[in-house]
This record gives sequence, C-alpha cells and structure tokens, in this order.
Amino acid sequence: MDQTIDDKRAVFFDKLAETWDTSGPSPAATLVRAFLKKLNLTPGSIILDVGTGTGMMVPYLFELEPEKVMALDLSEVMLSKLRAKYETHYGAELIVSQGDVHFLSLPDASIDAAICNGVYPHFDNKPKALAELLRVLKAKGIIAINHFTNKAFINKVHGEASDPLIRKDLLEPVEDLANLVIKAGFNILDMADNEHEYYLIAEKV
Ligand SMILES: C[S@@+](CC[C@H](N)C(=O)[O-])C[C@H]1O[C@@H](n2cnc3c(N)ncnc32)[C@H](O)[C@@H]1O
Repeated sequence: MDQTIDDKRAVFFDKLAETWDTSGPSPAATLVRAFLKKLNLTPGSIILDVGTGTGMMVPYLFELEPEKVMALDLSEVMLSKLRAKYETHYGAELIVSQGDVHFLSLPDASIDAAICNGVYPHFDNKPKALAELLRVLKAKGIIAINHFTNKAFINKVHGEASDPLIRKDLLEPVEDLANLVIKAGFNILDMADNEHEYYLIAEKV
C-alpha cells in the first residue's frame, strides 16, 4: 500500500455502510461503558476514534467529557451516516474526517487516547499503524484495541467475507499483539483474550 488511503478496504466498507447500523455489532451500553472506564481518561481529553464507522462509540466517548472527539474512517459512506446522526448534536467538539490510520494528518503528541474498536485486524501494515498512533499520542497517551466479542468469532466472520482481502484480516492471540505493541514503543496496561472479549490497553512510554 503506497497511497495515503487504503482504497480497497474503503470500497469494501462503503458497501457495508448502508446497513451497518442495523446489521453490524451493537454491544450493550453497560459493556461499552465498562470498557471505557478501564482507560481512566480524564475530562478534557482529546480522543481519536480510529475506524469510527457510523460512530457507534461516539456518544459513549462524549460521556467522558472530552475536549474533542476526532472520528476518523476510510469510508466516506460510513462517515456520512455518522455526520447525519451526530454532527449537529455535538458541534465543534466532534471532528469528522476521512483518513487512514497509516497516514494521520495530525501533529506529533497531539492526542490523549486512540480507540480502535473493531478495526485493528483491518490495518494493512500493523507496525506502521502502531508507529503512526505512537507518533500522534502524547507521552502516557493511551491506545485501546478492542472487540466486544472473542477472537474466534471475529476470525470466523472475517474468514467468511466476500472480499479475499478481508478474509486475511484476522486477530492473532493477544500475547502476539502485545509483543508487537511493546516493540512499537508502548507499555501494556491490561489485556484479555477469552470467550467473551478481546482487548489490549497500552500507554506510550
Ligand atoms: C468493523 S467497522 C467498525 C466500526 C466502528 N468502530 C464500530 O465499532 O462500529 C471497521 C471500520 O474501520 C474502518 N477502517 C478500516 N481500516 C481503516 C484504516 N486503515 N484507517 C481508518 N479506518 C479504517 C472501516 O472503513 C470501517 O468503517
């Protein structure tokens, strides 16, 4: 991938966008809030929601009283759904932009937390994506990689995707992810890989 947007996956997710809110995952509010609580974010944080899709996480992120939420996604169609739901409601505190995690147009050390919910396996070049997130995070900034389900389920769904590229977007055991995250320059704070959940929370060293 040598362009600044992963066009192939953008096309795939553009097609999913129309029905994402009705057929995509919709985790219970209690689960989402319990997960976000683990991040210990303070009010006034700048939060990047990587692969925000139609913004499932957005209302929950605003419950944390952030300074702003930056909602980023490859898919303009996903983002158009998000804008229709939330742009007027949240105003200037919600910044919606099309972009790719591998090529963030954000200054160094400018965000407090990067949330990657349901998106990490789709990163085309994982070390590069992690390096880019490390660059834009402030010192002690948090990265959260999460799925509100287990690895086997995600790998089954992706393994059955219509697009051969997506069929290769699989989750590794969380220990392997942890090794990659440590190598990228983070300290692991918490992680789990069991029948209910898959997540890793780390901070920039
Ligand atoms: C499975 S959806 C999850 C959406 C949302 N986070 C949620 O939990 O409902 C994955 C989203 O990540 C986006 N995405 C995939 N690769 C990306 C990348 N390299 N940079 C930014 N967004 C990406 C896709 O366009 C898609 O909207």
